[in-house]
Amino acid sequence: MPMTAIILAAGEGTRMKSRHPKVMHKLLDRPLVSWVTRAAREAGAERIVVVVGCGADEVRAHLAGEKDVECVEQTERLGTGHAVRVALEGADVREGQVLVLNGDGPLVEPETLRRLVAPVASGEAAEAILTWTPADPFGYGRLEFDAEGSVTRIIEQKDCTPEQAERLTACNPGFYAFDVTQLRSHIGELSTENVQHEFYVTDMVEILRSHGERVAAVHTDDADELLGVNSRAQLAQLSAIARDRINNRLMAEGVTILDPATTWVGPDVTVGRDTVLLPMTMLWGTTTVGEECVVGPNTRLTNCTVGSGVSLEETVGVDVTIEDDVTCGPRCYLRGGAHVRRGAHVGTHVEIKNSDIGEGSKVPHLSYIGDCTMGSGVNIGGGSITCNYDGVHKNRTTIGDNVFVGSDTMMVAPVTIGDGALVGASSCVTRDVPADALYLERAEQRIVEGYASRRLERLKREA
Ligand code: UD1
Ligand code: CA
Repeated sequence: MPMTAIILAAGEGTRMKSRHPKVMHKLLDRPLVSWVTRAAREAGAERIVVVVGCGADEVRAHLAGEKDVECVEQTERLGTGHAVRVALEGADVREGQVLVLNGDGPLVEPETLRRLVAPVASGEAAEAILTWTPADPFGYGRLEFDAEGSVTRIIEQKDCTPEQAERLTACNPGFYAFDVTQLRSHIGELSTENVQHEFYVTDMVEILRSHGERVAAVHTDDADELLGVNSRAQLAQLSAIARDRINNRLMAEGVTILDPATTWVGPDVTVGRDTVLLPMTMLWGTTTVGEECVVGPNTRLTNCTVGSGVSLEETVGVDVTIEDDVTCGPRCYLRGGAHVRRGAHVGTHVEIKNSDIGEGSKVPHLSYIGDCTMGSGVNIGGGSITCNYDGVHKNRTTIGDNVFVGSDTMMVAPVTIGDGALVGASSCVTRDVPADALYLERAEQRIVEGYASRRLERLKREA
């Protein structure tokens, strides 16, 4: 039976004090809502429906990047029950089970969601509710149970009598599973007869029971995964929890992390065995790092593919491929589809953009290499630059195999330097260089013996 996840994300999140909707605030490298869509996907949801409202355009624009997600707009915020109804109708959900998730609860585990949906999928219950007993239950909806442990009712904190608020300690963290047929048949029976005059999804418990259906409770002890984000302080708290979880997983898989408190790794990153992550390292997006690498200190990689045996010291990489046994840094910047091939070296204060650096080639010091195809075994002298931009176009520089480029060389693209050519230091290369040739562009040198002291004496005499 297909499973649909409905993610409630229409709220504004007043306590964030932000121009942006709450679910667009980032936990590690991605907005809160994307943690929830990811958990739903991993739990096996075939359809993911996000209810948007406040800041709908911003949420929609972001979710356009997740092809399996549909957005439904809730134009009036009439409560959680109303939001679920809008989603069911807007996305025409008719089959299987429905998971209802909070868009601001990013740490929920797919395994917990699978546990939650199980009693509904098996036909044992029409609804299942995740429950836990927090140290401080204030603010949460409270659960009442019958003798068999089924849920009979959820009472919102605001609707509790003082006696109920005191006695009922099992809470509703806001995650539900429903049989969609039962939900569709009876959601119209929700009313706004409560303190907040809202349609409460929590009232589905009593409604389904009145039709003879059972509501199962699925308990959990891991309070961390149920935490929601309502303030910036909570966002920071959850960020630290997410970081620790990921770092602990990596260490269990054989990665050394010298300082887990300053090492930040996104949820989709993979790191191979015996790789060492040094302090102040951030690995984001779809980055993959192979085995036996040393990454950091002070390295940030976003959407990079890194082979094995690589050393990346104080390196920033965005959208690049780095093959095995490459060494980078300290202090280099690789971006825009750069591809650094096996055994190459990119050194200090070097920027590489949209370029292919061939096997074993070296760009050791203070260079900018942009829009360049470089063969293998090349050496680029310190301070050399590909002048790729003429003010209008980006032009390519092509460098063959085993070329030696002397220091402080300007290569004015488009230009080609053939295999094995030699370019003298301080040249400005404006014409193609044939293979095996010497290219030298340098003003003639003059030596005037004894000039310096003669000049000094003259200046003193004139003073
Ligand atoms: C809800 C539960 C409460 C539970 C708590 C856990 C209800 C009535 N109560 O209370 O039992 O303990 O969550 O956090 O459901 N939303 C919409 N559209 C709306 C209203 C809400 O999309 O019209 C979204 C919000 O953006 C939020 C989620 O639903 O992501 C929960 O809404 P919120 O108003 O925060 O519910 P609570 O009062 O916290
Ligand atoms: Ca809430």
